[in-house]
Parts: sequence; structure tokens; C-alpha cells
Amino acid sequence: MDFDKLAIGTDIEEIERFSNKTLEQDEKFLRKIYTPAELEYCFKDKQSASHLCARYCAKEAVVKALSQFEISDVFYGDIEILNHENNSPYCIIKKYPNIEIKVSLSHSKTYATATVLCFYGIN
Ligand SMILES: CC(C)(COP(=O)(O)OP(=O)(O)OC[C@H]1O[C@@H](n2cnc3c(N)ncnc32)[C@H](O)[C@@H]1OP(=O)(O)O)[C@@H](O)C(=O)NCCC(=O)NCCS
Repeated sequence: MDFDKLAIGTDIEEIERFSNKTLEQDEKFLRKIYTPAELEYCFKDKQSASHLCARYCAKEAVVKALSQFEISDVFYGDIEILNHENNSPYCIIKKYPNIEIKVSLSHSKTYATATVLCFYGIN
């Protein structure tokens, strides 16, 4: 295994920061950070602040990991975290299809957190 091609990132945020965010009142902020599919997932139940916060953590964690590859042109809106049918999350960066990302999310009442592993040069 070539460890130069492997990077890790993590982040934790307070969910309260995302409480009361709505598409009506916070559209500019939300559409800058989240993709339409992410917003659909986050706002489909009452836990929207937890889902938004966990995805924000994942995006920060990805940016941290990519900085280990000296990649600095990926912004939050470029990073998409979606869910498989069994609800496990996955992550895509369309402009870097050769980076594979593994992501894990968790949220308690107060905090959300994410951990990511990035593999550069897949394929
Ligand atoms: C998947 C599971 C572990 C999630 O745990 P949880 O404490 O409820 O939830 P957390 O707050 O830690 O994590 C939530 C995140 O887990 C992720 N998640 C959900 N299902 C997942 C799965 N099957 N695999 C990986 N990640 C999963 C999601 O990203 C979710 O966040 P999101 O909805 O914002 O995307 C839990 O729902 C589960 O199915 N546990 C198995 C229970 C079981 O088999 N018990 C037997 C005991 S003997």
C-alpha cells in the first residue's frame, strides 16, 4: 500500500449552529454549501439540523484530508454526501473522480461529527 495516496480528515461541530435553518430564510447559505440532493435528504425529516451539521463536518473533513494531497481547489459545494439504500453515507467529488472517499457520520443531541478517508489515484 502506498501511504502517500491515503489521507484522513475529521471534524466536529455543534448542531445548534444549523438549527432553524430553512430553505426559505437561508437559501443563499444552504445552496452554496449543499447540493440539491443533499438538501432533499436533510429536509426530509425533523432532524434537518443534525443532517446538515453532519454533512458540513464531512465537507470540512474532506477539505482537511485533501490538503494532505496539496489540493486546495475543492469547495464545500463540490463535495456531495449522499446515502445508500441502507442509509450508509457515501461521498463524491465530481471534479476529482480519481479520488475515492470513505465517510462515516454520527450525531448526538448536541454535536455531529464525520471521519473521512481519501485514496488518491484510484483507477
Ligand atoms: C447504522 C446505525 C449504527 C446508526 O447508529 P445511530 O447511533 O443510530 O446513529 P448515528 O447518529 O451514530 O449516525 C447517524 C448516521 O449514521 C449513518 N448510517 C446510517 N445507517 C448506516 C449504515 N447502515 N452503515 C453506516 N452508516 C450508517 C448515516 O450517515 C447517519 O447520518 P445521516 O442520516 O445524517 O446520513 C444504527 O442505526 C444501526 O442500524 N445499528 C444496528 C443496530 C443493531 O444491529 N443492533 C443490534 C444490537 S445486538
